Amino acid sequence: MGRLSIHKLAEWKREDRRFAMLTAYDYAMARLVEQAGAPVILVGDSLGTVMLGHDSTVPVTMDDMLHHTKAVVRGTKRCLVVADMPFMSYQANPDEAVKNAGRLLQAGAGAVKLEGGSEMAPLVRRMVSAGIPVMGHLGLTPQSVNQFGGHKVQGKTPAAAARIIGDARALEEAGAFAIVLETVPAPLAKMVTERIGVPTIGIGAGVDCDGQVQVLHDLLGLFDDQRQFRHAKRYAVLGEAIRGAIREYVAEVEEGAFPTEEESFPMTEETLTELRQGASTPA
Ligand code: KIV
Repeated sequence: MGRLSIHKLAEWKREDRRFAMLTAYDYAMARLVEQAGAPVILVGDSLGTVMLGHDSTVPVTMDDMLHHTKAVVRGTKRCLVVADMPFMSYQANPDEAVKNAGRLLQAGAGAVKLEGGSEMAPLVRRMVSAGIPVMGHLGLTPQSVNQFGGHKVQGKTPAAAARIIGDARALEEAGAFAIVLETVPAPLAKMVTERIGVPTIGIGAGVDCDGQVQVLHDLLGLFDDQRQFRHAKRYAVLGEAIRGAIREYVAEVEEGAFPTEEESFPMTEETLTELRQGASTPA
């Protein structure tokens, strides 16, 4: 059985079948995400914040994306792996953009995702005609966070909402196979979902999108000591579980309770005696 194809997602849209996408950025987590049944993995540029500790996705580079995409691909066999195009890898020069998207596919991704609406349509068309499947991303596009002035809900006015609907249509016409809708009012996401023929994937966009996406670290509660985004749901509190395990390890090392015989390797009495006798004679 090969990887999930973009055609399967189109089929699911026609069948009204919902699906989950989840981010992953490394081999171990990608394996777990696939084993747990998520059909699509996004190697999001959110890795800039959750893996690399940056304040935003803006500092993420092509090298970062290639490194993490390769690890995720190695950890999966069936998932469709979508790799984010990082800030300034596609905005400045269309030739450069197609080359960079091609590098992500050569790293093993099955598709790339880029942010932006109608203004990106010519580039999407060009990438698609070069054989590169493209996922769009509208609404709160994190690479433009400096322009938005923070993480604010997008598409709240009639004009802004109409622009998002028009952008979704333009991306679909240009050949995008799916569109992420981030932090937009739920009724607007429903409207977009009903009006376009490719799947919408929501994050903070209500329940009526065809798919949903979450950032893995939010879902697992790895940052349980930080404020959670409203759109994110903690399905576990692994931050505390991990701290608890590490606390126990540190305490056992300090007390001399780890390692026990169970985690140690023995030596026969005979070898030991020989060694002790030999140890008195320098080699
Ligand atoms: O980078 C990312 O994780 C994303 C999702 C929030 C859609 O783009």
